[in-house]
Amino acid sequence: MNEKIGVFYGSTTCYTEIAAEKICGEINSLTNSKNTSLYNVSSTSVSKMNDYKYLILGIPTWDFGELQEDWENQWEELSELNLESKYVAIFGLGDQVGYPEWFQDAMGYLWQKIKNQGASMAGCWPNKNFSFTQSKALNYEKSEFVGLPLDDENQFDQTDNLIKVWTKKVLVEFGISNIE
Ligand SMILES: Cc1cc2nc3c(=O)[nH]c(=O)nc-3n(C[C@H](O)[C@H](O)[C@H](O)COP(=O)(O)O)c2cc1C
Repeated sequence: MNEKIGVFYGSTTCYTEIAAEKICGEINSLTNSKNTSLYNVSSTSVSKMNDYKYLILGIPTWDFGELQEDWENQWEELSELNLESKYVAIFGLGDQVGYPEWFQDAMGYLWQKIKNQGASMAGCWPNKNFSFTQSKALNYEKSEFVGLPLDDENQFDQTDNLIKVWTKKVLVEFGISNIE
């Protein structure tokens, strides 16, 4: 694989960071290459996204439906980006039991923002096997999440498999074809 993929995440208590590392590992093993670069938006400007055609973004929801703070700090800079030639997939971390009325809201906000900047979006995920009251990360019909909703508080045992299946789906949707 010659295409480089930029993986950008914000993470307050490291769960999203660990998921991002696993996603990079999965891409590298599926493509037999090391063409992923990992960036924490606490220390990297989102303008670095300009260097990549393919992007995977990770965001947890905090404080009753709010953006994770490092993404929030760069929200205005995101508005400056032209993402018209980019392919983007998003994953989120949340807690459907502790915060059922705001499950994964930040993933929904980030998805809408990135879509507004012109990106082609990939990586939606079925709304099955989750239990919550409301989420801003669902599509119009509420049948799918706009990205991968991980919940390490309540479904940690499923995370590795979800990452494996989702990452493969994203690469196919990106059109990166040389995977097994
Ligand atoms: C104070 C607090 C508020 C939270 N608010 C939400 C929320 O509104 N919605 C949600 O889905 N998860 C919520 N969570 C769960 C976090 O998203 C979850 O713990 C996540 O794994 C944190 O990711 P991080 O370690 O990468 O920061 C909250 C957690 C805490 C401790």
